[in-house]
Parts: sequence; C-alpha cells; structure tokens
Amino acid sequence: MAKISVIGAGMTGSTTAHWLAEREIADVVLVDIVDGMPQGKALDLTEAMPIIGSDAKITGTSDYADTADSDIVVITAGLPRKPGMSREDLLVKNATIVGSVAEETIKYSPNATYIVLTNPLDTMTYMTMKKTGLPANKVIGQAGVLDSARMSAFIAMETGVSTQNINCYVLGGHGDSMVPLTRHSNIAGVPLEKYLDADKLAAIVQRTRKGGGEIVGLLKTGSAFYAPSLAIVQMAEAILSDRNLILPCAAYLNGEYGQEGIFFGAPVMLGKNGIEKIIEYELNDEEKAALQKSADAVHKSVEELKKLVEL
Ligand code: APR
Repeated sequence: MAKISVIGAGMTGSTTAHWLAEREIADVVLVDIVDGMPQGKALDLTEAMPIIGSDAKITGTSDYADTADSDIVVITAGLPRKPGMSREDLLVKNATIVGSVAEETIKYSPNATYIVLTNPLDTMTYMTMKKTGLPANKVIGQAGVLDSARMSAFIAMETGVSTQNINCYVLGGHGDSMVPLTRHSNIAGVPLEKYLDADKLAAIVQRTRKGGGEIVGLLKTGSAFYAPSLAIVQMAEAILSDRNLILPCAAYLNGEYGQEGIFFGAPVMLGKNGIEKIIEYELNDEEKAALQKSADAVHKSVEELKKLVEL
C-alpha cells in the first residue's frame, strides 16, 4: 500500500487519517509534537479497522524517521483560526511551524508529493516549495476543492438538487477575495441562473467566501475539519491512482491567469507526478478583475512572509 504521512494530528490531520484509512487509500503515519497524542489517535484508529475490515496501517509518532519514503506528505501542523481572526492573522506563527515541518520531512521523503492545508494557505504552500526545494508540480495547496464543495453544498440546500449534479469552481486565493466562478459552474450542465435568481446567487457567492469564518464562528475553539480533510483525501487519491482528475487546487503559477510567482487557486490535473497540467479557463473582464484582486492579496501575504523568513 502507498504511504501518506500527515503532519499535525489535530482536527484536520486526524480526520484526514480517518478517511484515508477507512477507504484503504494508504498506510498513514500521523505526526505531532504533543507527546502521546498521535500515538493514541493512531492506536484508536487501528482498533477501528477490524470493524470496517480495512487493512490500512496507522502509526502515530513524534519521530520524523517514521515518515521515511512517504509517497505523499500532508501538512496540517499549525494553529487554526479563532473567531474574529482572518487566515492572514496566522502567518507569523504558522510560518515557523510549516518551515520546520517542510525541512524535517523532505530529509526522509525526497520523492514525495506535498499537499498543504495550513493557513494562510497560498503562502504556506509557497513556503513549503521553497523549504523543500521541490519542483512546482510536487507541491499543491488544498483550498479550491473545499471552497467549491462549500458552494455546491449551499446550492444543493437552496435548490434541493443532488450534490452529484452540482459542479462548482472556486478559483483564486484561499481568502475573503476568492473567486466563485458562477458562469463556469452549473447544475447538470444547466447554468446556475436558470435555478437561482441573481440575489440568491450573490448571497451564495458571499456565503462561500466567508464559509470558513462561518464555521469558526460556530465552533469558537477551532476551524472546519471534515470538509477540509476530505478534500485532501480526494487530491491524494487522485495522485496515487494517477487519475488525471481535474480539481481546483493552489498551484504555483508561471504566467497562467496572468500571475507569476505565487500559489493561486486554479483548475489542475492531478496524476502520478502531482500537478500534471494547469487548465486555463477563458475569463471575461469582470472575472479577470476579481482574480487580480485576489492575487494582490496573495502577493501581499508572500511579501510579509519574505520579511519574516529568508527563502
Ligand atoms: N510539528 C508537528 N505538529 C505540530 C507542530 C509542529 N511543529 N506545531 C503544531 N502542531 C500540531 C498541534 O500540536 C496540533 O495537534 O498541529 C496540530 C493542529 O491541529 P489543530 O489545532 O486541531 O488545528 P486544525 O483544525 O487541524 O488546523 C490546522 O489547518 O485548516 C488549517 O487553518 C487551519 O492552519 C490550520 C491548520
């Protein structure tokens, strides 16, 4: 079986391990700095496997040597948001954590593909690429699958149509200026406007942009973890199965969508080499302007990072 190391065994990390093991996608190594916690969660999950008949092996550890030869490394280590915080407010603390995690893991798994979840997402993914020295196709940020799933969920709630018929695409940075592409989204091939009037659609776009904050506000002690972790699992499975599955993910752009030198949400094809291809949509002026606004926010965050860390 393939091997996936999940760094950070908190809410998102342990839930990622749960979905991966239940679906027998890979053996999982859960890593955390809290003594005993990753070991305890891994043992608990191991004891759940006979009930569902999964032979996935789950190991908990604080020793990076146990992550050796991972096919995929998932980084969830870091602080989650508290009510009132933006993802950017996490930059200083999480930069230190993600930097050290990237340096430790790459020593043991130089051929792994990395999937980053820690916020601020686009900047932490950039940092991971710089600290590991990996080529851009091997480092991917998870944001668009989650944001698009949130939009689909809100549309399903409003229309009553099965989530399986709803196709949504949210691109751009993983912040409040993310860009839900309503014109490219559809319900079984039919434009969203046929199902929803303009006000309802605008409200869904806004709710999608603030989707993470809505959950932080309800939970009060942490941020979302079920949907973010399942998004990681979909990406990891696509890579391990060499599926060439097109998903919106944070990818390092080199001119695509008019952007250069940042990780930014775009549709990418995921296969055995990580990002096999970046897909470009034809955008109108309004969509281009919205993406530029979002890119400006990501550039600003990367500049902040560069003031904190030598990259
Ligand atoms: N090495 C390994 N693990 C670490 C380190 C480190 N240097 N520093 C912190 N951790 C661990 C914490 O001990 C904790 O168990 O990371 C875990 C984070 O888990 P939670 O606090 O439950 O946070 P979670 O909800 O999983 O979110 C993690 O993902 O979605 C983003 O915004 C979210 O940045 C946050 C990250």
